Formats: sequence, structure tokens, C-alpha cells
Amino acid sequence: MKVEITLNTVFVFVIFYTAIAGDPDILTDFVVPNNTTLDASNFTFTGMRQLVGGEYPTNFTSLKVSMNELPTLNGQSVSYAVLEFPVGAINPVHIHPRASELMFLVSGTLQVGFVDTSNKLFQQSLTIGDIFVFPKGLVHFQYNNDTTEPALAISAFGSANAGTQSIPTSVFNTSIFEGILDASFHSKRATIRKIEDGLKA
Ligand SMILES: *[C@@H]1O[C@H](CO)[C@@H](O)[C@H](O)[C@H]1NC(C)=O
Ligand SMILES: *[C@@H]1O[C@H](CO)[C@@H](O)[C@H](O)[C@H]1NC(C)=O
Ligand SMILES: *[C@@H]1O[C@H](CO)[C@@H](O)[C@H](O)[C@H]1NC(C)=O
Ligand SMILES: *[C@@H]1O[C@H](CO)[C@@H](O)[C@H](O)[C@H]1NC(C)=O
Ligand SMILES: *[C@@H]1O[C@H](CO)[C@@H](O)[C@H](O)[C@H]1NC(C)=O
Ligand SMILES: *[C@@H]1O[C@H](CO)[C@@H](O)[C@H](O)[C@H]1NC(C)=O
Repeated sequence: MKVEITLNTVFVFVIFYTAIAGDPDILTDFVVPNNTTLDASNFTFTGMRQLVGGEYPTNFTSLKVSMNELPTLNGQSVSYAVLEFPVGAINPVHIHPRASELMFLVSGTLQVGFVDTSNKLFQQSLTIGDIFVFPKGLVHFQYNNDTTEPALAISAFGSANAGTQSIPTSVFNTSIFEGILDASFHSKRATIRKIEDGLKA
């Protein structure tokens, strides 16, 4: 009986904890240093103006507005990124540890996908106007496979600081002990080194 109650308590806690997982609730309207005077400019980000009539980049480019670029986003649980994909560009496999991503394809086409924790791959071909959700913390990618049209997407994140962890960089470009990678990937050292060297270039 006693054990049952304990397990129940743990179970309830787990459910409750899951329900509140996300940026913490704040107890003030904004999170700013004491005694700072704010005006509307503190809630305005103009860094995306460069997109209007600007040159299209020659490689994959992500323009973010998170609490790092707009400090008043701290505590507000939202952020944005504008993603530009020239012809053939990829956003390499990566995760956002603190947020799910809701991507709206504004122009072009994109091949997108994510892998869940049972290692099932969910892939989709998006056309202009489509919206796709990348669940929080899962490995995902985006790829413009079109030969003529660039693609532009806008992503919303459920965190003011979603964070990005690149899988290639975090695994192969951080000096993890050689033997660990060899064994993890069931590969010879020479194979792993080839991948590592490719990222250093
Ligand atoms: C901000 O002001 C409050 C109340 O006046 C005080 O309790 C708190 O310690 C202050 N925080 C900082 C970082 O100075
Ligand atoms: C904020 O202002 C109050 C009153 O003007 C002052 O007492 C307090 O020390 C100030 N706090 C900080 C962190 O500057
Ligand atoms: C608010 O904006 C002003 C200028 O627009 C800036 O000097 C100030 O540091 C900002 N305050 C905060 C808390 O970000
Ligand atoms: C990516 O594109 C930008 C703008 O077109 C350019 O300045 C930068 O050098 C490019 N980076 C690489 C790695 O090609
Ligand atoms: C990219 O396009 C080519 C040509 O249409 C096709 O063969 C290939 O499967 C596509 N790749 C992806 C990842 O969609
Ligand atoms: C890998 O690390 C090197 C040195 O720290 C750095 O110059 C390079 O840009 C990194 N490559 C990638 C793909 O992150």
C-alpha cells in the first residue's frame, strides 16, 4: 500500500512536470534589470529590415530574434527565425533543446524531416504556404532541393531562447575522445577522422 502511494505520487508529479515544461512563468510583466526605463523601442526589433529588397544570400542563412537579439523577449516564451535557403542549400541536422519549432514556408519548396525517439523518420515535401512542426528536442533538417527557386521560411519557437545544437558539430567537431566515436559509430579511426577533417575545413 505504501509503495503504491509513492509510485502514484511520482506519476502525478511526472504528469504535472510535463505540463509545465517550457520557459518558466515570470512574476512581472517583463524581465529587465532593476530601475531601467523602457519604451516601445525596447520591444521592437528592426534587424529583419535587411530582408526587404536585400541581396539573397549564397548559402543557408538563419536570422534570429531571440532574447539574445531582443532582451525583452526574456520570459515571454516566444522567438522567431527567418530561414533563407538558396538553391541546393541545407540546414544540417540539428536540435533545439528548449523549444518546438513551427515553420511557415513563405516561398519556394523545402524537403523537411525529423526523427522521433523511437528513431522513426517523418519526412515531408513542403510547398509555398505549408506549415510544419518540428517537435521539441528532436533531430531535424531542412533542404531546398529545387534547382532554380530559393526558399524562404519563418519559424516560430516556443521559447525565448530555443538553443541550437548541430549534430555534426557537436559530435565530430568537439574533440570527443577518439575511441568513443570509433566505437559509437562502429567505424575505423580513419573513417571518423575523414568526417572530422571535413568539418574543420
Ligand atoms: C531589484 O529590486 C528588488 C526590490 O526593490 C530587490 O528585491 C532585488 O534584489 C533587486 N534586484 C537586483 C538585481 O538588484
Ligand atoms: C532602484 O531605485 C531605488 C529608488 O530610486 C533605489 O533605492 C535602489 O537602490 C535602486 N536599485 C538598483 C538596483 O539600482
Ligand atoms: C531600452 O532601449 C534603450 C534605447 O532604445 C537602451 O539604451 C536600453 O538599454 C534598453 N533597455 C533595456 C533594459 O534593454
Ligand atoms: C554565406 O553567404 C554570405 C552572404 O552571401 C557570405 O558573406 C558568406 O561568406 C558565405 N559563407 C560561406 C561559408 O560561404
Ligand atoms: C532531390 O531531387 C532529385 C531530382 O528530382 C530527386 O531525385 C531526389 O530524390 C530529391 N532529394 C530529396 C531529398 O528530396
Ligand atoms: C569546427 O571547429 C573549428 C575549430 O574550432 C572551426 O573553425 C570550424 O568552423 C568548426 N566547423 C564547424 C562546421 O562547425
